[in-house]
Amino acid sequence: MSDQLPKLDAFWMPYTGNRFFKKNPKIFKKARGMFYTSHDDQEILDGVSGLWCCNAGHCHPRIVEAVQKQAETLDYAIAFQHGHPKVFELANKIVNIAPKELTHAFFTNSGSEAVDTALKIALAYHRSKGEGHRTRLIGREKGYHGVGFGGISVGGISPNRKMFGSMLPGVDHLKHTHNLEHNAFSVGQPQWGGHLADELTEILALHDPSTVAAVIMEPIAGSGGVLIPPVGYLNRIREICNEHGILMILDEVITGFGRTGKSFGSESFNVTPDIMTIAKGMTSGMVPMGGVLVKQEIYDTFMTGPEENIEFFHGYTYSGHPLAAAAGVATLEVYEEEGLFERASELAPIFEQELQTIKGSQYVIDIRNFGMLGAIELQPIEGKPTVRALNVYKECYSRGVLVRTTGDTVALCPSLIASKDQVSTVVQTVKESIAAID
Ligand SMILES: Cc1ncc(COP(=O)(O)O)c(C=O)c1O
Repeated sequence: MSDQLPKLDAFWMPYTGNRFFKKNPKIFKKARGMFYTSHDDQEILDGVSGLWCCNAGHCHPRIVEAVQKQAETLDYAIAFQHGHPKVFELANKIVNIAPKELTHAFFTNSGSEAVDTALKIALAYHRSKGEGHRTRLIGREKGYHGVGFGGISVGGISPNRKMFGSMLPGVDHLKHTHNLEHNAFSVGQPQWGGHLADELTEILALHDPSTVAAVIMEPIAGSGGVLIPPVGYLNRIREICNEHGILMILDEVITGFGRTGKSFGSESFNVTPDIMTIAKGMTSGMVPMGGVLVKQEIYDTFMTGPEENIEFFHGYTYSGHPLAAAAGVATLEVYEEEGLFERASELAPIFEQELQTIKGSQYVIDIRNFGMLGAIELQPIEGKPTVRALNVYKECYSRGVLVRTTGDTVALCPSLIASKDQVSTVVQTVKESIAAID
């Protein structure tokens, strides 16, 4: 087997146990639709849409063709002071499906860059309005906002933070909403916990609301364990932000583009942020891309001064790269023409039913779901956190299904093109794997 593999040593792999991987490599050489083909020719059913991103499945022919065509037409267009057609087309298409208040799109190359861009927009917006005293940012425990210094500062997962010094100053965190005592085995949104949003008023009282620029959170905390917001929680955060002139940033890097059964999680939860971060499903994982959507008033606040002056000193060489923009336009067309967001809302109850069949299995202490996101939390092995979920992952993989683990939670996120049978196979394989472990 190893004869067919490339030399593995030089590549320092991201978020990976490099030494373990290089002794037990899992390499994918091809993908199509719901399946990967591994280097040793196993067909692996993808239960996590790549890394929560391939919402239209792998190698969708329409998106492939659009990228190929773009590559031979225009490889790169200077991103500052110039444009190209696809990037404008993509911005128009995205604001068309976003909450109507979000009227402008800024493009980045990843979710992490989207988050750092959103935080910078929030700070610069307040300063432009003569409120430069609003410098504090509030995130949430168990939140994941990528790996830039801004993102890890407002993020709330300790291994992502502890090695990297003091990060951004002036950041505080809300408590997370995960509570097994009250909410274990809630189906959909937990009924208990909306009141936890009121902690924001306490944090504001401590710092004084006039010092706070923005609150950032994921509608559903993905990497923190697929934590579904309790009923009323996000709406209450919105109200408190409104009362105090604080911007609400929703990080929809995972929850965007049909994952919750609507275009964005904010629509599913009926809350409109001032700023939204997006990535992943934006191009169905075909080409890296992220973005930030803002309200008209935020955009207008920047559009002052001499017209030839740069209004926002921020951007990336590859902001709105032609290949990414072409992939984005084709992806949105696929979502629309194949009705994939509606499909997600049709598949969601089936996914939910399947997940419920796991209840009562050994070690299972919680099952969570919303739209096409699901999670099974396991009792950790004493003294060995994460190992039980990893054992389930390994069992699933040996049975030909790819799942993802975060802590002792098995996370599922099937593509929106999945058939009912494939959704069932993913979930039932997790069930069998839980039964098979010690
Ligand atoms: C909510 C959220 N924000 C930001 C990011 C970072 O995105 P990227 O890995 O593209 O930088 C992620 C990635 O999983 C995410 O889930």
